Amino acid sequence: MSVYQPVGKVGQLADGQSGTVVVDGKTVAIFRVGEAYYAIDDMCPHMGASLSGGFVENGIVTCPWHFWRFRLEDGAWADNPRIKIGCYKVTVVGEDICLQLPPPTPPTAPPPPVTSATPTTLETSTISTKPGTQGTPETSTTATPTDDPQKSA
Ligand code: FES
Repeated sequence: MSVYQPVGKVGQLADGQSGTVVVDGKTVAIFRVGEAYYAIDDMCPHMGASLSGGFVENGIVTCPWHFWRFRLEDGAWADNPRIKIGCYKVTVVGEDICLQLPPPTPPTAPPPPVTSATPTTLETSTISTKPGTQGTPETSTTATPTDDPQKSA
């Protein structure tokens, strides 16, 4: 179920004006075109200009920095509609301009703790065959200083 969040009052924006609001830490640009309101992410995905400062014509806002164009009705990049920025439905409730936001996501359960009833120990051993003693494997475990053949020689 969506959430409607009031972000301003009707009349705060004149026809053709735009503004910004911060919703859940994100800056959203609101445009008034005639009696309709539109809301898209304010930050241009190209280099971060504020789209609320763009020029609006025929339902498309043109970024003021490098002229990328976005449709107000769905946030699609006008020159490549497969790429979209955030777009929010705007509803007027009484005198309030309200953004329709996606429902809050429920908190995710933390991962189960890592438990180990019995500590595991990695035990190693090396089996080697000296030249000339093929077939007679030697097993060596942790070396001690007296096991070093160079020191005992
Ligand atoms: S910052 Fe918007 S087109 Fe470059």
